[in-house]
Amino acid sequence: MTLRVNGESYSREWEARVTLLDALREDLGLTGTKKGCDRGECGACTVLVDGRRIKSCLTLAVMQQGREITTIEGLADGERLHPVQAAFIRHDGLQCGFCTPGQIMSGVACIREGHADSDDEVRDWMSGNLCRCGCYPNIVAAIRDAATSGKDN
Ligand code: FES
Ligand code: FES
Repeated sequence: MTLRVNGESYSREWEARVTLLDALREDLGLTGTKKGCDRGECGACTVLVDGRRIKSCLTLAVMQQGREITTIEGLADGERLHPVQAAFIRHDGLQCGFCTPGQIMSGVACIREGHADSDDEVRDWMSGNLCRCGCYPNIVAAIRDAATSGKDN
């Protein structure tokens, strides 16, 4: 089967039971996507599939054939960071950084969905992404900044 990830096609003989998260990390070496809980609770494994955010631990790789998958590795434009990535740096939205790829992928989608008009709205629509370091105020500030500066696309 073939997966499209960050604009490239990867053909492998994946077993039907392999999750998208394991296919990305273990087989394609795209370890930016993190495994936190492996059961849909933490959001560390968030990627975009056809532009929509999903938790990659909760879906099988075989189910995502023919779709465009974007991971944190595919977000920047060459050396130029995505505006949400840049905003996370500006606002110091991370400590250990383990949750950060998932937070950023989810933040990109949150803005595109039109769910970043207030701090409360961002908190609500980012509630599927947990941060054990407790960086929430800075994460919210980064997403609001990227959203309001109109540079989210
Ligand atoms: S690893 Fe997927 S939600 Fe935690
Ligand atoms: S920055 Fe450490 S878990 Fe979020």
